[in-house]
Amino acid sequence: MSKNFDVVVIGGGPGGYIAAIRAAQLGFSTACIDEWKNGKGGPAPGGTCTNVGCIPSKALLQSSEHYEHAGHAFAEHGIEVKGLGLKLEQMLARKDTIVKQNNDGILYLFKKNKVTFFHGRGSFVKAEGGAYEIKVAGAAEESITAKHVVIATGSNARALPGAEFDEKLILSNAGALEIGAVPKKLGVIGAGVIGLEMGSVWRRLGAEVTVLEALPTFLGAVDEQIAKEAHKLFTKQGLAINLGVKIGAITTAKNNVTVEYTDSKGAEQKGTFDRLIVSIGRVPNTIGLNGEAVGLKLDERGFVAVDGDCKTNLPNVWAVGDVVRGPMLAHKAEEEGVAVAERIAGQHGHVNFNTIPWVIYTSPEIAWVGKTEQQLKAEGIAYKAGTFPFMANGRARALGDTSGMVKFLADAKSDEILGVHIVGPVASELISEAVVAMEFRASSEDIARICHAHPSLSEATKEAALAVDKRSLNF
Ligand code: FAD
Ligand code: NAI
Repeated sequence: MSKNFDVVVIGGGPGGYIAAIRAAQLGFSTACIDEWKNGKGGPAPGGTCTNVGCIPSKALLQSSEHYEHAGHAFAEHGIEVKGLGLKLEQMLARKDTIVKQNNDGILYLFKKNKVTFFHGRGSFVKAEGGAYEIKVAGAAEESITAKHVVIATGSNARALPGAEFDEKLILSNAGALEIGAVPKKLGVIGAGVIGLEMGSVWRRLGAEVTVLEALPTFLGAVDEQIAKEAHKLFTKQGLAINLGVKIGAITTAKNNVTVEYTDSKGAEQKGTFDRLIVSIGRVPNTIGLNGEAVGLKLDERGFVAVDGDCKTNLPNVWAVGDVVRGPMLAHKAEEEGVAVAERIAGQHGHVNFNTIPWVIYTSPEIAWVGKTEQQLKAEGIAYKAGTFPFMANGRARALGDTSGMVKFLADAKSDEILGVHIVGPVASELISEAVVAMEFRASSEDIARICHAHPSLSEATKEAALAVDKRSLNF
């Protein structure tokens, strides 16, 4: 006997579990199917984000930053630390506890919102009589039918051809969060978000980190001025970032891995590492979904093809998150999940792609929303820019974290904020003000006229807005 629901969500990552909760809130009988297993084979909803992404990486970034501060930054505050030691096992166990708290939290939210959870792999069987039949292959096999299906099956790490992930020497994001002993030499292929975050974690814990990046420019999607500043700071911290390289053969020995590459000057190079993280982007995951059974259309890159409203080519089948076009970010997946549930209910769910913030959780953090200066130039949009360095901010001085700046880009005529870019302390939190301002289509003058608490890092945001009109007060 199959169980019938109004809405079935396949995938319990941030896109899927949030879509399921919102659908249930809107009065639909809702099920969510997720196959992720914890170490004991039990359910671990939350997807990549909770299990091997956002959450565990931020836990290790925090722990490793504390370690680095205790070793280096505390002395400046007059705090002497003797006999500093690293219990990596405990650090990793703490991370695992935080992951479990999040898994359990989602299971609790399912109960609270009356979402029926199925642990197993969901795959399409057929479409019949205005409903979809879905098989769940888990500890037991179940059959479900539903009028509406939301696909939220996420993404997987992209491997380099000829260097498959073994998670012992050649690591994806999953292995990069599980290294049992700090490697002496760590290689990272790809100077993107994962490469920089995980490279920072292991550098802080004592590894000598070499980053190999194919593109000649550092963080090409980031505002050039901000990326330059970040490159300078990361290099000073000890990340050896090599741009414009071409990766050649990768060979593994018993305890190490050798990467042959051509450097930006065309010279042949070779690096031998105790571990190698490959972080060269992610690919959409439709493995096991059996979309063929119902004629689900994928695009040429393997993403589920959707329109601007996350509708697939099939009636009442939607797709959200990493498995569809757009930035691979947890908050983008969540916004799409909410919007789809609301559209199913006949409401006007909406995702504003122009105001999705990006954050790279290095130290200092990099965060931005809207257009970069190079994009505005390429699009021929006349703009004014204002920057303010954290060096001139009292709170940053007190924190002992004065690197970086806030940068505003505003329309030359209307003064509407077009982009805000930050490299500096807790940029991840500061960027929210800019997101709100841009959602309300504020001008830089609006921010400049708002009272900001003193002393606070947010004063740097106000000052950068003032700088657009060349009237910074503290610089
Ligand atoms: P996922 O989170 O990938 O979830 C998909 C779920 O579907 C998984 O649980 C999977 O097991 C399940 N599934 C797949 N197929 C089936 C099936 N057929 N049946 C049942 N279940 C299935 N983003 C941020 O915004 N901030 C960050 O700080 C951040 N840090 C990251 C750090 C790392 C190391 C990585 C790898 C990613 C990070 N991301 C971050 C990106 C973020 O994790 C993803 O954008 C987000 O998880 C996408 O959510 P999703 O719901 O689309 O997919
Ligand atoms: P990425 O797209 O951020 O970076 C990949 C990098 O690898 C790029 O700079 C690219 O030029 C380079 N590259 C590609 N092929 C290469 C090759 N053959 N040799 C050398 N370099 C090569 O991808 P990443 O870091 O794997 O992360 C995947 C995604 O996960 C991110 O794009 C982001 O959407 C998400 N994520 C988000 C985080 C956040 O929000 N803080 C943290 C981590 C991941």
